[in-house]
Amino acid sequence: MIQRLVKLSFNAEHTAEFEAIYQRSKDRIRARPGCLHLECWRDVNDSTVYYTYSRWRDVAALDAYRHSDFFLATWAKTKALFRDRPEAMSAERLSELRSPAPEISRLEVDDYFIEIGGIDRGHFYWLHEQQYAGWIVLVDDHTRKHCFPRLLPHLKHEPTIIIEVPAGERHKHLDTCRFIWEELFRAGVGRRWCMLNLGGGVIGDMGGFAAATYKRGIDFVQIPTTLLSQVDASVGGKLGIDFYDVKNSIGVFRNPRAVWIDPAFLQTLPARELRSGYAEVLKHALIQDRAQWELLRNIQDLTTADWRSIIPASVEIKRAIVEQDPLERGLRKALNFGHTIGHAIESHWLHSEQRLLHGEAIGAGMIAEAWLSQQLAGLSTAELDDITGYLLATYGHQAIPTEAFDALIELMRQDKKNDDHRINFSLLPATGEVRVNATAEEGLIREALGYYNELMT
Ligand SMILES: NC(=O)c1ccc[n+]([C@@H]2O[C@H](COP(=O)([O-])OP(=O)(O)OC[C@H]3O[C@@H](n4cnc5c(N)ncnc54)[C@H](O)[C@@H]3O)[C@@H](O)[C@H]2O)c1
Ligand SMILES: [Zn+2]
Repeated sequence: MIQRLVKLSFNAEHTAEFEAIYQRSKDRIRARPGCLHLECWRDVNDSTVYYTYSRWRDVAALDAYRHSDFFLATWAKTKALFRDRPEAMSAERLSELRSPAPEISRLEVDDYFIEIGGIDRGHFYWLHEQQYAGWIVLVDDHTRKHCFPRLLPHLKHEPTIIIEVPAGERHKHLDTCRFIWEELFRAGVGRRWCMLNLGGGVIGDMGGFAAATYKRGIDFVQIPTTLLSQVDASVGGKLGIDFYDVKNSIGVFRNPRAVWIDPAFLQTLPARELRSGYAEVLKHALIQDRAQWELLRNIQDLTTADWRSIIPASVEIKRAIVEQDPLERGLRKALNFGHTIGHAIESHWLHSEQRLLHGEAIGAGMIAEAWLSQQLAGLSTAELDDITGYLLATYGHQAIPTEAFDALIELMRQDKKNDDHRINFSLLPATGEVRVNATAEEGLIREALGYYNELMT
């Protein structure tokens, strides 16, 4: 048995509203499977403070309730009335009541939730409650080894099949997708199954695409395991594969049923991959959240960074932007800061020995575009110096030979995001602010590349 005591303090004018919610819901909660007792009372000394006390058959029953649609809807209404955060204590014996592990952060996007925190049985009870005919777990060879063991104890409720594909961007193509579809057919997977995509952006994009198209679409849950996929690819519903050597050229927009982000997965991620994903974290702060940037620019060792608090803030920035522009018509371009020049750098060195990871190229792109921001958008010299200094310290320097400038400019012109023949940029008027649809003359772009190059000396 598990007992739970929650202290709730309300704004004085909202206590009546809370009492009404409680009266309406108490019978439904008491009727939940595993609920043994529920009551609520007001503090004798402070009429804005309430306590709820409940007993549950076991933790699983409580978790299942706390992940139910009913709880989520009622809790959202209750939360709006709070003066202070609730204090919740649980224990098997009342004498041992203690606060739980830090709560999961939960962000609402359209019709699903992004949950950030340790993946535990609560997640799987929710999934179980969806009553799928079975679950499919898609992994690559690395995530099978490093990440899958975390899920294994929870995979006992439904028929589950595992599909493993080779790791890496070069496998994000039609042949791998075909293999996934074949495996689904062979296992007799029907429309009522759910696919769990356990991996980085490659698994998320390709698994999501395979699921969204198999039998006109089955449900899927994204479980991103790289920093890049946790803060970037996990939001926005973009799915797809590379085709004809063009990244993400075949795909669809489709939302998952849920996104579960567990920072613990980052413990096994190679340091270079962690640093690459961090470029998107920095980008989010630079375009939207000055306070977050001030915090990040003091981080020197990524392996000890507090991802549990950094990731929710970063995901929230992308979520808010995507929500306002789901189909990438305008505002979402804000997310391109550093990417016009960064993408060109990434593409130019794609097939060479000194291949850069996405975030490493974006790191260089953000420096060059911060310089353009100072020239064209009003970024102060002090801010430019701060940005340049931190990005250089984090990503080092990759010299760009002047002979490559022409090819880079040509790549920027071809970029699908450019209308007409203009080269578009999203620039920073100040840290924490962004201006979309800026453009720069070729000469100035060359100077920006030159500024970056000179940093080496
Ligand atoms: N859908 C979107 O909005 C969106 C946004 C940004 C990027 N993307 C896509 O994301 C992809 C890049 O994603 P990525 O950087 O995550 O690359 P990735 O999926 O290739 O993962 C990088 C490497 O890390 C390994 N790995 C993953 N998790 C691990 C873990 N916890 N421990 C140890 N190893 C682990 C993988 O097997 C792989 O070898 C690109 O294809 C890009 O197009 C999509
Ligand atoms: Zn990016």
